[in-house]
Amino acid sequence: MPRLTSLALAALSLVAPALAACDYGTHLNPRSEGAVPISTFGYTALDGPLNWHGLNATANALCATGKHQSPINIDSSIQRIEGRSVEFVVDAYPYGAEFENLGTTVEVPVNGTLWADGKMYKLAQFHFHSTSEHRVEQEYFPMETHFVFSAPDKSTAVVSFLIELGLPDPLLTAVFASVGMISTPGSATTTGPLVFAPLEAHLKAHPIFTYSGSLTTPPCSEGVTWYISSKPLQIDETTYHRVKDVIKFNSRYTQNTLGEANLLQHAASLLK
Ligand SMILES: *[C@@H]1O[C@H](CO)[C@@H](O)[C@H](O)[C@H]1NC(C)=O
Ligand SMILES: *[C@@H]1O[C@H](CO)[C@@H](O)[C@H](O)[C@H]1NC(C)=O
Repeated sequence: MPRLTSLALAALSLVAPALAACDYGTHLNPRSEGAVPISTFGYTALDGPLNWHGLNATANALCATGKHQSPINIDSSIQRIEGRSVEFVVDAYPYGAEFENLGTTVEVPVNGTLWADGKMYKLAQFHFHSTSEHRVEQEYFPMETHFVFSAPDKSTAVVSFLIELGLPDPLLTAVFASVGMISTPGSATTTGPLVFAPLEAHLKAHPIFTYSGSLTTPPCSEGVTWYISSKPLQIDETTYHRVKDVIKFNSRYTQNTLGEANLLQHAASLLK
């Protein structure tokens, strides 16, 4: 059953200085009990992606040196597999689930399972980016959601959906029903009732882009297997604006072609 956490505004002073990132809740960054951790990185100026390496050169080295970094522009070189070739199941939360503002994203910790590439992964959480991090044939989308999984062998997989403006989506409407209540980093509320069967069917019904990349947040760890639905979800404009008002901007810039020099190393070499 989901924990029913009241508005954590009063708990702000208890907030742990843990690094909250896209890997939060996985073995890389275990979930802490009690308070919602606020991220120590950001998306602007010296906190932003051009300087994540500078925030901790040891921990975040790959952000500036990795050659398989995410997000990328998805072009025809990226493998497409059938939607049916992975099995994606997320538990239903008829009474809602915890909904947290980590400062760098809004996130819902839920349970679920992914069977892919002969492995079974467990879901840690899903969270949102605005604008989208991945691009498809150069095009960006207003939002993207990442379902972050880890396997017993400590590998990470992310199931991703791009989100464009359009009709209301019942799941996204329920997730964001009370997003206005968590505009303060470190705060938490409860979503509306969550049913994922339509999302599971959506993933099955369309081809999936897959590649081996990285976390899109510090420490930018590589060996992350991405499964990105080729068919965007839709969100209505009113909900989108309420979400954007809370998330602001949290999208890492498009990384270099897989296997080629990290763009930061490339840039640094030109300045020598
Ligand atoms: C940088 O990261 C390393 C390895 O994760 C950690 O041991 C160290 O405490 C961090 N340094 C700072 C200044 O946060
Ligand atoms: C996920 O499942 C574990 C183990 O059954 C349980 O302890 C935990 O409360 C669940 N978390 C959520 C968010 O449902």
